[in-house]
Amino acid sequence: MRTSLNALREMKGKTPISALTAYDATQAALLDGRVDMLLVGDSLSMVIQGNDSTLPVTLDEMVYHTRLVARGSRKSFLVADMPFLSYQPSVEDAVRGAGRLLKEGGAQMVKLEGGTPVAAQVRALAGFGIPVMGHLGLTPQHINALGGYGKQAKDELSADLLLKEAQVLADAGASMLLLENIPHDLAGRVSASLTIPTIGIGAGPRCDGQIQVFHDVFGLIPDFQPRHAVRYMEGGREIQEAAQRYAADVRGGKLFSP
Ligand code: KIV
Repeated sequence: MRTSLNALREMKGKTPISALTAYDATQAALLDGRVDMLLVGDSLSMVIQGNDSTLPVTLDEMVYHTRLVARGSRKSFLVADMPFLSYQPSVEDAVRGAGRLLKEGGAQMVKLEGGTPVAAQVRALAGFGIPVMGHLGLTPQHINALGGYGKQAKDELSADLLLKEAQVLADAGASMLLLENIPHDLAGRVSASLTIPTIGIGAGPRCDGQIQVFHDVFGLIPDFQPRHAVRYMEGGREIQEAAQRYAADVRGGKLFSP
């Protein structure tokens, strides 16, 4: 049985929620039950598909990867990202897209980026029983407007705006809020001002939980480490070395099937 939204809600202020991204059944099985929450992030556009932003991944592809992660896991709470342009155009698009991620993908919650411009979508989804996680701060789907992946809401004016947008999302019915790459103090203020759990990445220790990208945590891309990433192993280097040993064994005639 998967962790429920209620169980995660109850962790606020008591136990930090642990979350990682996952994109396929093998990754999901490795993480299942070891972290509270799995996110099928649209970061898969970059780390799985090799694109240079999160914009190209489609709703069909997100549904497919969500289904893989759902198949490989049965304990951790499962969230799926709504990709760029699957919810922005209209409330109807948002409901149909989110519905597919739950119905065909097996997600328990969807995540979408932005505040007031998507508040109507959040309200409609929540009203139809589709739990929503908001996403503020560095919102990678806005990369062309932001111009880079740096820290957001650094001055007082934009910090105040972010606090207001967080409340707008909570009032619209969001059940959780992801805060990406904002000053730690601001993330602490947002977390204290809301009754819903906040999940941070590059947002400091005062969020109600933390999330990281699979490839960053396990060091799968040896020469790339975002500033907010925390690396727990050098998985990429280990795979490269193992591949070299394997190739050497094959060449040396040491490896053959029984
Ligand atoms: O798509 C993603 O991986 C994200 C991260 C912020 C966790 O949204």
